[in-house]
Amino acid sequence: MNNEVKILAPGTVANMVCGFDILGFALHQPADEMWMRLLPEKRVVIHPDPQYNLPTDPEKNVAGAALLAMLDAIDEPLGFEVKITKHIKPGSGIGSSAASAAGAVVGANALLGGRFSKTDLVQFAMFGEKLASGVKHADNIAPGIFGGVTLIRSILPLDVVALPSPELYVVIVHPQIEVRTADARAILRQKILLKDAIKQWGNIAGLVAGLTTKDYALIGRSLEDYLIEPVRSILIPGFDLLKQQCKAAGALGGGISGSGPSVFMLCQTEAIAHAVEKIMINLYTGLGIAHHTYCTTISNAGITTQPNNNPVFAPL
Ligand code: HSE
Repeated sequence: MNNEVKILAPGTVANMVCGFDILGFALHQPADEMWMRLLPEKRVVIHPDPQYNLPTDPEKNVAGAALLAMLDAIDEPLGFEVKITKHIKPGSGIGSSAASAAGAVVGANALLGGRFSKTDLVQFAMFGEKLASGVKHADNIAPGIFGGVTLIRSILPLDVVALPSPELYVVIVHPQIEVRTADARAILRQKILLKDAIKQWGNIAGLVAGLTTKDYALIGRSLEDYLIEPVRSILIPGFDLLKQQCKAAGALGGGISGSGPSVFMLCQTEAIAHAVEKIMINLYTGLGIAHHTYCTTISNAGITTQPNNNPVFAPL
């Protein structure tokens, strides 16, 4: 019962520009650290992360909500204790809530000997996303759980497709302004024009084809969003100029990471990625907006677990 597992739950980039709510990929960095163990009764205990004032009531905590959904599917007197050290800032747009929810169910499944499928785990973790944003979307959770790039073809019934991807560098800038996912969803138009939808699904198909055939130019051409970006980008200072400058420096393309405010760019080489990171730093320094950048790659592993040999919990 005292066996502990350590979990690394990386950030994720949802939407991948054109695939609102249906495409996403896992990052190598940043990643939350989590520790979990089994409890001998049906309950979930969440330890506070002193850095952030996140709720520890399991029903109000995204990891807790995901684990309670999992416990509903288990007919045994057992529960989970969780400690999370967040390295993915809540509200950054790089899947902070999804990392906690998906990391928790992946860790729980490791403690249970892997009794649930990845699809089951996505179903449980979506309860955390519903708590965080009011809607069950899986485009951060699924890449965390499956690794790499994932397509969520359908939520009901859940149909997750793991896509192949060529090696890609990912550069992210997180301007330190707050954009709540629920707010960024509330401002979206509920109706779209057919001519815009045609351009959008052309890009989604192009992006999937480009990833599958390792056609970098096609990936770049397909990273355009006619539906969401025009509305949400007004919340992100310097967005248009940033995109223009990064593409001029050789980035394949990019856009808002999830619901923002982070912006990401995909690059074919490390040298281009570093040049793009400099552009991001210069632009936000010039605007006087505090920011943080990450220069990383797509993680095919997603969330990982290992036995924890340095116990963090007091003996039961
Ligand atoms: N697809 C979701 C959105 C992701 O854009 O609202 C949130 O991270």
